[in-house]
Amino acid sequence: MQNRAQWQSRLGFILAATGSAVGLGNVWKFPYITGMNGGGLFVLIYLLCIAGVGLPILAAEVLLGRTTAQSPVGAFRNLSGKGSPWVLVGLLGVITAGTILSYYGVVAGWCLDYILLSVDGRLLGTAPEEIPSLFPELYGDATRNVVWLTIFVAATIWVILGGVRRGVEKASRILMPLLFVMLAVLLVNSFTLPGLGEAVDFLFAPRPENLTPAGVLEALGHSFFSLSVAMGAMLTYGSYLSKSESIPATSLAVGGLDTVISVVACLVLFPIIFSFGMEASSGPGLVFMSIPTALVQLPLGALWSVLFFALLFLAAWSSAISLLEVLVAYGIDEWKLSRRKSTLLFGSVIYLLGIPSALSGSEGFFGKGLQELTGRNWFDWFDYVASNWFLPLGGLGISIFVAWKLEDQLRRTAFTEGTPEAWQARLYAGWLMLLRYLAPVAIVAIFLHVIGVI
Ligand code: PHE
Repeated sequence: MQNRAQWQSRLGFILAATGSAVGLGNVWKFPYITGMNGGGLFVLIYLLCIAGVGLPILAAEVLLGRTTAQSPVGAFRNLSGKGSPWVLVGLLGVITAGTILSYYGVVAGWCLDYILLSVDGRLLGTAPEEIPSLFPELYGDATRNVVWLTIFVAATIWVILGGVRRGVEKASRILMPLLFVMLAVLLVNSFTLPGLGEAVDFLFAPRPENLTPAGVLEALGHSFFSLSVAMGAMLTYGSYLSKSESIPATSLAVGGLDTVISVVACLVLFPIIFSFGMEASSGPGLVFMSIPTALVQLPLGALWSVLFFALLFLAAWSSAISLLEVLVAYGIDEWKLSRRKSTLLFGSVIYLLGIPSALSGSEGFFGKGLQELTGRNWFDWFDYVASNWFLPLGGLGISIFVAWKLEDQLRRTAFTEGTPEAWQARLYAGWLMLLRYLAPVAIVAIFLHVIGVI
């Protein structure tokens, strides 16, 4: 255990963890669910979910990892004893990471396809009103999806093979600043568009009539996904964190950056949408159908489109890196594999699991077949199960374990280490309250909603 790798610095951890948190969830999903839920109040509720539930769980996860210097399964075993059922929460995390990663790579692949479409002139060569139909065409094209998935999984494996410092941390130190700059350039562009005023109004003026209870629960569920919590990614990254760093401070930095980026992504996208008189509530197609249609009509259109999809790709890649690291760290810690073997093994498993998702838009069994049989294709099933069942279950397990099972002295020391004295008592008490009461109640509400009771 003394040999466990560590981040080179606090910044290294913050950039890697932010890389995990900032992903498709921020730039693709958050804007479209905001659009579907009427903006304004939904954004506010989301911020409350992050502050009241997401962040406390994030800190709890980093604490579990750092205290034990183990990946999820080992962390629970270490603190609760061999053979304890709590170990299952760790195992669920590993399974969730694999489930999410397998379909996440397919969406990342679409970004690569759109970069190519922008570069080779196909996007510019298509009449704007035809551009939305490029997306179903891509989704239905098995070959293109599989090729992109292959490239994406290979790129993720390549980083993880390099290890914690030379792989994950180094990649994050390059990818994250690049992502911030790209986002800033896109933001400046959006600020020059005529739809800016309407977008700001949509995002920040409360319109209570548009919000439903389902929207509130969607905000809560999405806060877990967006912060990468409840499945062991933050736990695993926390296991490489030095004991001298403050858990509340680093968690706040990561959660804060993730949330700011979600809001900025909306400030990039909605002015574009409104400037071209498009619908904010168009759903999942917002980013792959509406946005390219609008972008190509701007001066230097292809360039904006490349920039946007490259940004989305980088965000997805750094998130996928953290998901694969959960599996690989599990193989190293539990099965005593070398990093190389573990990476190749789990990388291959994910690739094989991802293929049915890559085929989900096509006519065959994994797409239309399953859809007709069960109402969802393979891709939709994986997303549904991971987001609606695995993540809330993992979040519930982690919050109850840390808030109710962990010995108080150990928990207090771990939480407050490295934090200025004057802050320690109040921060600790506030965090524990949220984790004890608000988090479990909120998560149970998600379940009741998923099974149709509320
Ligand atoms: N947080 C990532 C996003 O917003 C997704 C993710 C979930 C990554 C869980 C790692 C772990 O897209």
